[in-house]
Amino acid sequence: MNSSDHDPLWYKKAIFYETPVKSFFDSNGDGIGDFRGMMEKLEYFTFLGVDCIWLLPFYESPMKDGGYDVSDYYSIHPDYGTLEDFKEFLEKAHSLGLKVIIDLVLNHVSDQHEWFREARSSRDSPKRDWFVWSDTDEKYRNARIIFIDTEKSNWTWDEGTGQFYWHRFYSHQPDLNYENPELREAVKDVVRFWAGLGVDGFRCDAVPYLFEDEETNCENLPETHLYFKELRKMVDDEFPGIVLLAEANQWPTDAAKYFGDGDEFHMAFNFPLMPRIFIALAKEDSLPIVSVIAQTIGIPDNCAWGVFLRNHDELTLEMVTDEERDLMYQEYAKVPRMRLNLGIRRRLSTLVEQDRPTMEMLHSLILTMPGTPILYYGDEIGMGDNIELGDRDGVRTPMQWTSGKNAGFSSTDPEKLYSPIVTRAPYSYEIANVETQSELNTSFLNWLRKMIRTRREYSETIGLGTISFPKTDNRKVLVYMRNRDDVHLLFLLNLSREPVSLHVELPEFEGLKPFEARSNTPFPAIGSDPYFFTMAPRSFFWFQLRSDENGEASD
Ligand code: GLC
Ligand code: CA
Repeated sequence: MNSSDHDPLWYKKAIFYETPVKSFFDSNGDGIGDFRGMMEKLEYFTFLGVDCIWLLPFYESPMKDGGYDVSDYYSIHPDYGTLEDFKEFLEKAHSLGLKVIIDLVLNHVSDQHEWFREARSSRDSPKRDWFVWSDTDEKYRNARIIFIDTEKSNWTWDEGTGQFYWHRFYSHQPDLNYENPELREAVKDVVRFWAGLGVDGFRCDAVPYLFEDEETNCENLPETHLYFKELRKMVDDEFPGIVLLAEANQWPTDAAKYFGDGDEFHMAFNFPLMPRIFIALAKEDSLPIVSVIAQTIGIPDNCAWGVFLRNHDELTLEMVTDEERDLMYQEYAKVPRMRLNLGIRRRLSTLVEQDRPTMEMLHSLILTMPGTPILYYGDEIGMGDNIELGDRDGVRTPMQWTSGKNAGFSSTDPEKLYSPIVTRAPYSYEIANVETQSELNTSFLNWLRKMIRTRREYSETIGLGTISFPKTDNRKVLVYMRNRDDVHLLFLLNLSREPVSLHVELPEFEGLKPFEARSNTPFPAIGSDPYFFTMAPRSFFWFQLRSDENGEASD
């Protein structure tokens, strides 16, 4: 099955789920998750109700950056299995109706990659120009350093050939030189290879940094956009249906530029929205969300934001004001070990101290915002993190399947696991695990499954519809509508820790009734005065506004 056989806009109505292969399930008892393990657990994705799996890099790699340091684009890391395993996994996923997108790390490679080994072997190497070299480390001084906790410069000295090489991330990750036409083609060949195997798309890593220019901060350059338009044209021509998703952690206007005129990326992560959700929560004020939405709507019709709460990295606070960052640290990272670079290395459930109403409200938000929700593995069971582990490893611990040995992740000795299991109450595997929560009707997992199902009934409206903000008299409540044709959905989220009341102006809907979306319970009809609501702390409502007559509460 290939995505092109289906609805070409499938990604706008879908729900994505991100997971590292390493962390999901270990099939052969060596303590490391693998493709055969993913295969064994495929039914879990359909049980949860997600449509597309995003796999973190699984290529050969020295693993100094979770596999984002690729040393061979055409291979599977032996810990995860073989190319045959991958193909089988893909086939089985497709047979269950699941899509699979994979990580494409195209800004840089590992210094162990053959290309870089060759390039640094001599200044005359034919691969020399595939990387960015300089006699001084004074060039491109306006480019910020991203990994500020570990890197002092974007240049590293190469002893052998007596020049510096350029890198935006770790010094063991030399940046590729996109000025070089051969390199540009070589990266397209990597895409051709995996697209040819039938993957449904690529999550393109670190896209803003492909080109450098002395006069700029070396991010989002016009040449970078041109390359992605070229890449898009190539996949449209050769592999129609393939979806490209951009990781561009940028200010709103710069992030939105990656959609081009609908001819660049199909999707881009909504990095502008993500931190502002948590800011709005801390401030108990809907304004940060409303204003960022205003800045991020109006994208081409064939494009979608990827809306997420957490991922495998720190919760980045690079693109917020200093004041907002201070507020975030104050609220969510009081302990210094919780911080990393300009961010917070914690999971969702620990950020909100496993407050169930808040967890529900936040998921309610990402399921109904304009864009495609992207869930992070483990968040659906309120799994915790481990700040004692280094870098971002604390949010990449083994998936918690059962309350048994190694959380049911692996049969190996606990000492041999690639990472310890989370054991701290209340986030530990004894409670936060799939088996226990599947059996419990009231669990967060089952709550989320139900919400995903409800969302599915409205996926046309939520995925393709517009957003509007009715007038209200209480900024503590985020009130918005999603509209498409004659379907009108009304959402209310009480960001406050206290109960609230509010009036919502709904003049165009006079005479209709709000029907609660999950239960189809009718509320009193909308009259000529503003509609009055009361809400419990951190609670939410999903309504469809309709007349009594028309049947089901779905579109
Ligand atoms: C992206 C990845 C991150 C990685 C970095 C360098 O930001 O999400 O995990 O460390 O790129 O490849
Ligand atoms: Ca294994």
